[in-house]
Amino acid sequence: MQKLVIEGGIPLQGEIRISGAKNAALPILCATLLSRETLHVENVPHLKDVTTMLSLLAQMGVGITLDASQCVELSGREIPNPVAPYELVKTMRASILVLGPLLARTGRASVSLPGGCAIGLRPVDLHIKGLQAMGAEIEVANGYIQASASKLHGARICMDLVSVTGTENLMMAATLARGVTVIENAAREPEVVDLANCLISMGAKISGAGSDTIEIEGVDELHGARHRVMPDRIESGTFLVAAAASLGKIKLHGARSDILDAVLDKLSESGAHISTGEESIFLEMRDRPKSVNVRTAPYPAFPTDMQAQFMVLNSVAEGSALITETIFENRFMHVQELCRMGAHIEVEGNAAMVRGKERLGGATVMATDLRASASLVIAGLVARGETTIERIYHIDRGYECIEEKLAQLGAKIRRMA
Ligand code: EPZ
Repeated sequence: MQKLVIEGGIPLQGEIRISGAKNAALPILCATLLSRETLHVENVPHLKDVTTMLSLLAQMGVGITLDASQCVELSGREIPNPVAPYELVKTMRASILVLGPLLARTGRASVSLPGGCAIGLRPVDLHIKGLQAMGAEIEVANGYIQASASKLHGARICMDLVSVTGTENLMMAATLARGVTVIENAAREPEVVDLANCLISMGAKISGAGSDTIEIEGVDELHGARHRVMPDRIESGTFLVAAAASLGKIKLHGARSDILDAVLDKLSESGAHISTGEESIFLEMRDRPKSVNVRTAPYPAFPTDMQAQFMVLNSVAEGSALITETIFENRFMHVQELCRMGAHIEVEGNAAMVRGKERLGGATVMATDLRASASLVIAGLVARGETTIERIYHIDRGYECIEEKLAQLGAKIRRMA
């Protein structure tokens, strides 16, 4: 199993380009199932989860052509096999995103239940409930969601919880349903908006994406389109936190500051000097960061995908701070690993009290989930001595060439077999 080995204590300095957003690319690739025509998707990040999604779509019958420059051409002319098998779904929960499009396009779907993962049970009951409201017959048996619908119809759906992929699944299904669907308490994440923009370019009639009420008027069919995936706000935030924690100075190209307000506000509060351009973000941290309290919540509040990274920043900051995780029930897996590096963190339920200290100490640690892995990389960058991170397949799921980008910023980091 591959490892990352990091020599800590070097402030990050330099410039990098941000990749396309994983959590926008994944639903957008699924949108190809909604049309017989070709969907051209640009700025697709080269990630394990994207490769898995493309394999999942290909075995359903989608024609896929990749070109060298992150462009993917998908053709859903025929979907002879509307099945998402366990072998693929177990490695990527976002596979559930094929359920709505398959039902809307083919009238049937057999999708393996994703099952839980390190950060929580991750149920999909809201996806199922919404599709049933649109007329789908759904049975869950033997670990599979067996769904059928002669023709989905519009419905008014109020989501019990804000669910990003739940909103995306139902929005995609509604594009081909008969009549109007209204999704209330919808997720407002920028990735939902990027998917909506792609669907609209395919001929869907959607209004309200980005607000908590999305209205979709079903059409008979969607046509092909060309869409460029938005930049990854979590990758942006992760590198900014790494620069802040290491007292560095970096510039991100191809990054959008308008979708990172909550994160940029917290970084400024910790003492970072930040300036933004049309498609760039510059950050300099001149002195030791100050601790900042963080409470995760649905967009536009502080993103749960940035919680682990701020845990590290607070671990080396001046003062103490409280980190509260309100989205997932088990998203503190990185805490015990950070404590092995000398961090002072006490967890009580969904809250962690972090008491900052000057330096962490390098150690061998184990990655448990995608964003926890990123926090261990940041910890390794700021720790005294050498840190080895095991099970880094987690990190490859969501960060494109992370060690190349960090090396570009001066980090001493290498991948070992
Ligand atoms: C998406 O996951 C993201 N993944 C996650 O990013 C992100 O952390 C999460 O949204 C929250 O922002 C993708 O977009 C592919 P949810 P998702 O449905 O959609 C509960 C990363 O690191 N819930 O918004 O699966 C759920 O258990 C990943 O890139 C139900 O109870 O998350 C959670 O407590 C990790 N029933 C809350 O809602 C449902 O049917 C929010 O989950 C659905 C969700």
